Amino acid sequence: MAASVVFLVGLFVICTTCTGQANLQPVMHFHMKDGQNEAVTVPPPPTPSAGNSSSHSMPFAVNGIFPALTATADSGGKRSECGIGALMPWNDHLYMVSYLSVPDAGNGTGLYRIDSSFQMTKIADHRSTYANRIIHKETSQIIIGAWVINSTGGVRVFDQLLTYRLAATAEHLTKPETMVYMLGMDGPLWECDVIQMTCTQLFDLVKELDIPAIEQPHFKAAHTMNGRLVVASNTFQEEDFIGSQQGGRLAEWTGPGSQWTVLEKTAFVEVTGRRNFGSVIYAMGWDAISVILKVYDGRNPAYHSWQTYRLPKGSHAYDHLWQTEWPRIREVETERYLMDMHGLFYELSPLGWAGSTWGLRPVSRHLRMIPDFTSFRGFLVLGGNQVSSIFDNNVVTGQSQSGLWFGKTDDLWSFGKPQGWGGVWRRTAVKAHQPSDPFLMTGFDHKVLHVFPNQNVTDDVVVRIEVDVTGAAGHLPEESWLPYGHVLFNTSFPYAYHVFPAGYSAHWVRLVSEADCVMTAYFHYT
Ligand SMILES: *[C@@H]1O[C@H](CO)[C@@H](O)[C@H](O)[C@H]1NC(C)=O
Ligand SMILES: *[C@@H]1O[C@H](CO)[C@@H](O)[C@H](O)[C@H]1NC(C)=O
Ligand SMILES: *[C@@H]1O[C@H](CO)[C@@H](O)[C@H](O)[C@H]1NC(C)=O
Ligand SMILES: *[C@@H]1O[C@H](CO)[C@@H](O)[C@H](O)[C@H]1NC(C)=O
Ligand SMILES: *[C@@H]1O[C@H](CO)[C@@H](O)[C@H](O)[C@H]1NC(C)=O
Repeated sequence: MAASVVFLVGLFVICTTCTGQANLQPVMHFHMKDGQNEAVTVPPPPTPSAGNSSSHSMPFAVNGIFPALTATADSGGKRSECGIGALMPWNDHLYMVSYLSVPDAGNGTGLYRIDSSFQMTKIADHRSTYANRIIHKETSQIIIGAWVINSTGGVRVFDQLLTYRLAATAEHLTKPETMVYMLGMDGPLWECDVIQMTCTQLFDLVKELDIPAIEQPHFKAAHTMNGRLVVASNTFQEEDFIGSQQGGRLAEWTGPGSQWTVLEKTAFVEVTGRRNFGSVIYAMGWDAISVILKVYDGRNPAYHSWQTYRLPKGSHAYDHLWQTEWPRIREVETERYLMDMHGLFYELSPLGWAGSTWGLRPVSRHLRMIPDFTSFRGFLVLGGNQVSSIFDNNVVTGQSQSGLWFGKTDDLWSFGKPQGWGGVWRRTAVKAHQPSDPFLMTGFDHKVLHVFPNQNVTDDVVVRIEVDVTGAAGHLPEESWLPYGHVLFNTSFPYAYHVFPAGYSAHWVRLVSEADCVMTAYFHYT
């Protein structure tokens, strides 16, 4: 894969149509010369002039949508997609990159800069797919898409990466001062030098992680913490749903000399975490049963293992690998995360104590596709992936386009009330007395549990319901699971359900079967 590296000239053009304003800034042109990027033009970014209403006017907005801040792809030529893959506040600007579905599948996508007065400038054209962003703290540069932007707005490009799809950028395990990892959606993992602007492919993760040939690799996230690089691929097709193949991956690598370890073989879309607050790494994915949140406490050696929690799905329209786009966990209010998964927003604490997470609550349900979100000048900014022709498979769309939504974090409470469904078992060979994973219970109004066997049963099968009310989920010996009650099914009554009383709530719920049985247990929260 690395052999097919194509060198393109990173030509940065001024977009004259995207702002409707004439105050566009000069942009930089770079070309490759003996492997070095050479700046031809060096522009200072515009000085923020917020507050001087006589020099400019705020663009027109409706309900938080600024139509002038829209990313579009061309209607002519191939038509695929135009999502907003990454948003990064930097240098008094908001940088944004849009994406096609695959390289060469259209024109018009680019890297944009939105200034303090909400004027947008397209600073580079590209014809690929980018959803990566990170700050490289050692050199005070951000990396967004194939570009590196320094603290005063100077832009350089990894020409080598202009023809690849990039899912994520992560800190380097051994040379963090100058290098980062770049993860390609289709499996290549590079290390890139952010000074020299060169990349070397280290792995083809399709091979390393043994992704079956009939499954489409679809890498989505990477994060370095606690001495490991964790990567996620959200492959999930019909084979995964029926259980004949397992294409998704969550995997980790501890650096040169070590082998990759596959942690999960189902779809994973996001991995993140902060180095403080207990050094918890979060990974977010799903299987046919429910949404999955995995938690790794990196600080306390007694807890060096991944914990698994299950959460409801807020929608059935996220299960295919293509349908999820880029659900993310981001810090948009200080020292707390906003998490977006399967149509539900959650507040999540970065805190991890005693081997677990402490605090996860649903905020709202939504329809918006949000490949990235961030904070900028007091706003919560949601990216989008709105209308896409996808090679004219969607014949009622002529032009792929996505916009931004600007609001405040607490507006999210006024989106849909949290609702969802999901299970702890689905056609699962359950072992007697082995508790299920914890399933989220807090923050939902009406709750019902459905349990039924996927095999013929002769005797009564008793399934006990246990709850955790503090959030400890059994991680503190003195706060163990509480017995709530049980449901029972048998040959005469091969289906049991339980309606939790109005007003009843707990943080987590789990089930324990008294007998071996293949069965399904689903919670519906309405
Ligand atoms: C505000 O804008 C006007 C018109 O461009 C300019 O003449 C004036 O100097 C500006 N004032 C400040 C404080 O920047
Ligand atoms: C994109 O634009 C380039 C040059 O402007 C053109 O050669 C190419 O045919 C276009 N591609 C598509 C898919 O429209
Ligand atoms: C950023 O890059 C530009 C263009 O190369 C350069 O002129 C400027 O000095 C750089 N700024 C910093 C802080 O390195
Ligand atoms: C369950 O019993 C029915 C009726 O005896 C039978 O037709 C069916 O094949 C059995 N199912 C399984 C999974 O054993
Ligand atoms: C089967 O389950 C029902 C409902 O829980 C219960 O009333 C009954 O006693 C159980 N046993 C048999 C043999 O039906």
